[in-house]
Amino acid sequence: MSDFVLIGADGMLGRCWAELLAARGVRHLATTIEDLDITDRANVALFVRPGTQWVVNCAAYTLVDAAEKHEDLANEINGRAVGRLAERCREVGAKLLHYSTDYVFSGTASEPYPIDHPRDPVNAYGRSKALGEELIEQSGVDHLLVRSSWLYAPWAKNFVLTIGELAMSKESLRVVDDQRGRPTDSRRLAEVSLTLAELGERGPFHVADSGECTWFELAAFIAQEVNPRCHVEPCTSDEFPRPAPRPAYSVLDIRATEDVVGPMIPWQDRVRDVLARVGG
Ligand SMILES: NC(=O)c1ccc[n+]([C@@H]2O[C@H](COP(=O)([O-])OP(=O)(O)OC[C@H]3O[C@@H](n4cnc5c(N)ncnc54)[C@H](OP(=O)(O)O)[C@@H]3O)[C@@H](O)[C@H]2O)c1
Repeated sequence: MSDFVLIGADGMLGRCWAELLAARGVRHLATTIEDLDITDRANVALFVRPGTQWVVNCAAYTLVDAAEKHEDLANEINGRAVGRLAERCREVGAKLLHYSTDYVFSGTASEPYPIDHPRDPVNAYGRSKALGEELIEQSGVDHLLVRSSWLYAPWAKNFVLTIGELAMSKESLRVVDDQRGRPTDSRRLAEVSLTLAELGERGPFHVADSGECTWFELAAFIAQEVNPRCHVEPCTSDEFPRPAPRPAYSVLDIRATEDVVGPMIPWQDRVRDVLARVGG
């Protein structure tokens, strides 16, 4: 019997969790969608069994733009399946560590979103993640709900890698300067989540690197690191219309987390570290 069941182990964050649990020598079962599809109730029951201490759910429907067209699928994976997973965890006495997003907030605030701010998503993905949060709360499961934002890693499709590659091959880039948030190194997110769990923290937490920036500021920093000759120019979101509206200001308030684990590391340090680990 494994102490941890990891779901979505081949996603961007899931890979960090798999590495972390292996490095710490924690008895765990790392599953991908091939093994465990969270929309399949019987499949969930097979893996989430009495004796499991923690279920870490890194599985999600994360295609923000596609979710506008496929909202029911997003709601099934990010909402209803999460609710059933939570109920199964409660039944067998397992604790659930689940991930959510800054996109459960509208982005109309002008100061960081506290953990108890009412959910008010502006797009289908955000609504599906908000549904998952609500169903976990209603299930009565013993849980840790970690909201994060703007994830990146040395693998998978993410903004830091994409801009890093573009900056190496292009003379100039235009990047939106009217969305502000907190970039987050997925590895650090997994480490801090595990620490919160081990310390017995429960309920909602916001975990992100410290500091804040716009996508333009993040891109300009990355270009400076990988190829200072690439010129990054700011532009507005109107110039790059996308199916899903994005929150303009999605800075998560991380103070409650920092009270427990100490200061989070500035995003610039984490981005530098991840760029150095690419391909390593
Ligand atoms: N990425 C971000 O910027 C960001 C920001 C804030 C919060 N989050 C949250 O952080 C968590 C991890 O995100 P991520 O970026 O690591 O996502 P990701 O890279 O897209 O990984 C998600 C994983 O879930 C799997 N999956 C999809 N449907 C599934 C199902 N029905 N059953 C089991 N597995 C399924 C995917 O498999 P396939 O690839 O085979 O479909 C993939 O391996 C998610 O809860 C996400 O909402 C992400």
